[in-house]
Amino acid sequence: MRSFSTKALSAVLFIAASVKSSNTQVLSFVARSSFPTPKSSNRLTTVHPAAVAVTSETEPRPLPKIIQGGMGVRISSWQLAREVSKRDGLGVVSGTAMDVIFVRTLQDGDKGGHFRRALASFPNQVMVEKALDKYFIPDGKPADKPYRSLPLWTLEPSRQTEEAAILGNYCEVWLAKHNDDGTPTGGIVGLNLLTKVALPTIHSLYGAMLAGVDYVIMGAGIPSKIPGILDALAQGKDCTLPIEVSGATADEESHALNFSPKTFWKGSGSPHLAEEPLNRPAFLPIVSSTTLAQSLLKRSNGTGPTRGIDGFVIELHTAGGHNAPPRGWHFEAKDTEEPAYGEKDMVDVKSFAKVAKGLPFWFAGSYGKREKLREVLEGGGNGVQAGTLFALAQESGMDHTIKQNILTELVTNHELHVYTDPAASPTGFPFKVLEFEGNSVSTLSDPEVYDSRPRVCNLGYLRAPYLKPNGEVGYRCPAEPVADYVAKGGDADATVGRKCLCNALCADAGFPQVRFFTNPDTGNKDIYVEPGLITTGDDINECKSLIKQNEDGTWGYSASDAVDYLLSGLEINDGVTKNIERVGV
Ligand SMILES: Cc1cc2nc3c(=O)[nH]c(=O)nc-3n(C[C@H](O)[C@H](O)[C@H](O)COP(=O)(O)O)c2cc1C
Repeated sequence: MRSFSTKALSAVLFIAASVKSSNTQVLSFVARSSFPTPKSSNRLTTVHPAAVAVTSETEPRPLPKIIQGGMGVRISSWQLAREVSKRDGLGVVSGTAMDVIFVRTLQDGDKGGHFRRALASFPNQVMVEKALDKYFIPDGKPADKPYRSLPLWTLEPSRQTEEAAILGNYCEVWLAKHNDDGTPTGGIVGLNLLTKVALPTIHSLYGAMLAGVDYVIMGAGIPSKIPGILDALAQGKDCTLPIEVSGATADEESHALNFSPKTFWKGSGSPHLAEEPLNRPAFLPIVSSTTLAQSLLKRSNGTGPTRGIDGFVIELHTAGGHNAPPRGWHFEAKDTEEPAYGEKDMVDVKSFAKVAKGLPFWFAGSYGKREKLREVLEGGGNGVQAGTLFALAQESGMDHTIKQNILTELVTNHELHVYTDPAASPTGFPFKVLEFEGNSVSTLSDPEVYDSRPRVCNLGYLRAPYLKPNGEVGYRCPAEPVADYVAKGGDADATVGRKCLCNALCADAGFPQVRFFTNPDTGNKDIYVEPGLITTGDDINECKSLIKQNEDGTWGYSASDAVDYLLSGLEINDGVTKNIERVGV
């Protein structure tokens, strides 16, 4: 019998159970206060009828001081983004894996009817009906049955997958921008995507733009081709995202994911929708160095003096999620040492202000603290992007039981430890892992849970395209079964310690896949429920001061409490919060 360890089994059972489940002092701020007047002549102010509440460049609004970071998968939920945006922050939803979250939400019965409320406003109801017919299960699927899957992303994605990504991102942004009664909140909302998860990018952007997304924020790679794609999509034009194919030489045909709004809408029987112009969201790349910021300003494919870039998020290596590797770092397969960061990996606010070309910027990575907000504003920046602080807020999409476990650990004075894992992420970037060994929640950070997980690659967002000997493009991921990876020409050493982030992060959000597999020891068909793997920033212990006990005995704080906490750093001596409204340009 394949023996699951007690911990692994308890992870399985636990997740199975949770399935359904102003002042006297004057501060001098020199940073830009709102976006500059349009740089790109092709920016459109006319909006799609579906995009009810969008920012208009003719009426600049003050820039947010607080960005609630995009956290995938679905930790930055629409509920979280909506609360932050209602407090004049930039509420960001994560678009990563939204196609899968969309079809799984429908299969869980769409509790509260939120997605169906958003779908009712989608401009093509044929597409909506199709999705509901296929995936919606009124009472939700049984907890011990697998979710129905979607075809994996390739350079030529299936129509089903394309539509799920567009509808999923549409719903998430629409819900973040609307009150429960369907009226616009008037808040600003961003979409976060990971550059490394390249194949779903255009469809995710398009779905979000149909819902009137105000900002797009992307890191984990070099998003130099995004500004041009945003320009094209806003005008209903065809666009292309070049895709790197390992093993393809420069003289071979280049590879790309192409998307044509015209062809797409024709396929849904409403070609006129491609003619409707959309609001072009502001684009903020996430960078970890001044050099990368300068390079993006020179090489991005957008129009205007800053090539379609509207500002920056500077994220340092203490941030949750993926981190940029240290300067000069070369990961050796089987390496388990935490990457060593040094002075060269730090960026300070004043020096970044010099290279920002007057564009606004926000600092991230242990900047979710009140004194840090003040520090950035005083240094000439526009504010902070905070992740961990919001990931633990009650509105985040983190699975309730996992969140309560973390909060309980924090209030019972246990110091939590975050490890910068050099090998976990198939992307090759260091990835922050909250060590949860020995707690009531078992995650893949526990070696026993990791070792007993039957490897599988059934979501495939982190698969890298490679050229097969016959000239076709194949896809492989170092976290897939080792034999499969090696058969595809991959190096066995590269599989060591890799974790299936796709499945683990879906589990963290309360959507774990249930799998049947034949137990090699007994020959029986067993059920396996994917465990999670929690990522947070290094400073997780600092969230403790916000945690209160609720009437029902649970622990927590709201997104609004987190905003209050950050803004309290702007209170000076007399305790009155200075309203630091910077005047629009
Ligand atoms: C749970 C979690 C998931 C994250 N996922 C993403 C992501 O999908 N994309 C991204 O650009 N950043 C991601 N981040 C980084 C945050 O957006 C933010 O920049 C970072 O958390 C800021 O540092 P802090 O955690 O110290 O506040 C994630 C962070 C956390 C805590």
